[in-house]
Amino acid sequence: MQWKALALTFLVKHGLSQSLPMMRFGCSQLVVDRLDPLVNPGSIPSPHLHQIVGGNSFNASMDPLTHDLPTESTCTSCTFSEDFSNYWTAVLYFRARNGTFKRVPQFESEGLKANGGITVYYIPSYDSRSTVTAFKPGFRMLVGDASLRTPGTARKVCHRCMPASGDNSNLNCASPDTQTLPTGFCVGGIRSVITFPTCWDGKNTDSVDHMSHVAYPSSGASDTSVGASGTCPDSHPVKIPQVMFEVMWDTRPFNDKDLWPEDGSQPFVWSTGDKDGYSQHGDYVFGWEGDSLQRAMNARCNGDVCSELKVQSPEEAMKCTKPAVVKENIDGWLTEIPGMAVVT
Ligand SMILES: *[C@@H]1O[C@H](CO)[C@@H](O)[C@H](O)[C@H]1NC(C)=O
Ligand SMILES: *[C@@H]1O[C@H](CO)[C@@H](O)[C@H](O)[C@H]1NC(C)=O
Repeated sequence: MQWKALALTFLVKHGLSQSLPMMRFGCSQLVVDRLDPLVNPGSIPSPHLHQIVGGNSFNASMDPLTHDLPTESTCTSCTFSEDFSNYWTAVLYFRARNGTFKRVPQFESEGLKANGGITVYYIPSYDSRSTVTAFKPGFRMLVGDASLRTPGTARKVCHRCMPASGDNSNLNCASPDTQTLPTGFCVGGIRSVITFPTCWDGKNTDSVDHMSHVAYPSSGASDTSVGASGTCPDSHPVKIPQVMFEVMWDTRPFNDKDLWPEDGSQPFVWSTGDKDGYSQHGDYVFGWEGDSLQRAMNARCNGDVCSELKVQSPEEAMKCTKPAVVKENIDGWLTEIPGMAVVT
């Protein structure tokens, strides 16, 4: 099991004696659609394409005051059937020499069975004596910036050029991971990791930029560490579970020298119209039923088995899909990426 190896890596890195439990589970594709209820609520279409997983109440508006995800959803594409949250990221495209674009397929992370989508992590506090406070209904947050075209400070969003198998170590965006897309062939595809903050202001379930109500720890943990470790700043004193996304892009069909640009550059482009990779981002809208997430965190559940939670089979989770609202061609060889006339 790769995630065990991964947990072990954290143990070594942080010198802890007890094991660090982390929930890690698959969420199959719900839909690929040009909607963004967090940054562009009500916009049909939103500026760029996303791949979305989780509860099927996902839609363009999701008013935090009235849209109750567990009540409005009839299924979820995630393993834990009480999790009607929504999780989404940008989508990757391949640009051919003739300038046309093709959507890069996704595949499931090692050890899991899913139809593409996102592998989701919830990591409780490193310290087994303290607990984290689960999110409240209406809670949402964003990591990354779709308009970013330079390194910036978004060190929690990164890519890894994956070997054929067996490399799930260090999901902390440290070397060899990069903010830019890998520059060479990746025999195991490209992994994109997005790590959310672990400190909350204790009051606001959202903020204007969808970021400032949460913060990364101010001390006790390096900027690149994973897990709810470190000291929360006074402004954001409440420890929340660390949410993390792992997304696998199957770039293997494009590993052909004759398909890549003749100038030696790499051919992948995010659906934001970004050819370098800085603009990948992750959005989260909390939607766990009742106190299920709090119970799972208190029980320090590990992997995709948790005695506190109801589980559905991957086959059942894969059945939860919904039709795209925005009717446009997102596959085939496209003359432009949906909504993005220009690549920068
Ligand atoms: C989204 O879902 C809510 C709850 O079902 C509904 O009230 C709202 O009209 C929907 N919005 C859109 C844009 O479909
Ligand atoms: C563009 O290139 C791709 C990949 O080589 C090819 O499959 C496609 O047919 C080409 N499209 C045109 C219009 O030439």
